[in-house]
Amino acid sequence: MQPYGLTRRDLLLKSAAIGAAVVVPSLSLAEAIDGWQRQQDAPLTPTAWDEIGPFYKRDTPHVTQLRKPGDPGLPVNIAGKVFDTRGNILSGAAIEIWQANHVGLYDLAGDAYRTTLVADAKGEYAFDSVMPGHYPGRVCQHVHFMITAPGNKPLTTQLYFATDPVFEGDPKKNYTRDPLIQSVDLVRPVTLAGDPKDIRAVVNFDIVLERL
Ligand SMILES: [Fe+2]
Repeated sequence: MQPYGLTRRDLLLKSAAIGAAVVVPSLSLAEAIDGWQRQQDAPLTPTAWDEIGPFYKRDTPHVTQLRKPGDPGLPVNIAGKVFDTRGNILSGAAIEIWQANHVGLYDLAGDAYRTTLVADAKGEYAFDSVMPGHYPGRVCQHVHFMITAPGNKPLTTQLYFATDPVFEGDPKKNYTRDPLIQSVDLVRPVTLAGDPKDIRAVVNFDIVLERL
């Protein structure tokens, strides 16, 4: 119940009307207040959690080129930004990444297809890899992420690909075929880039951490 039957938006409209708020001239009053309120009220939904799984290793090398020359499999560029729920970029966030190779095997003895990246001054990260293969015990292709940034809750999650045959072209309908997928938001579109002799997949995976 709001005090005196007024919502916070009503109060803001009234205070703006008596000159207590500054409004950007090109926006209507209601638009300006709605925008301000979105910023105050955690506009971004935190990225969904997903299991860490059994193949995590600490202290992996800081490399952006996980795909070595000659590695088989479909090359994939994965990139994104790290935000908090207020939409602030989190430069300096640590992003640990690990995945199977193109036939679904993890490197348990070494560090192939593993890295630790740091989000740059724009909150951005990027790496080159190959599309991970399916493997026994898991339904869908996936890449594991663990993200940590001061002032925010650490997150373990997994990235999935809308092109995975398991989804039969309709991830919204079929994402629950993998019982580990907590949210369809973790299934990201895949676009193809490059010329016919050098095709690569491109995937965006922006990440939102929940503030402590
Ligand atoms: Fe896995």
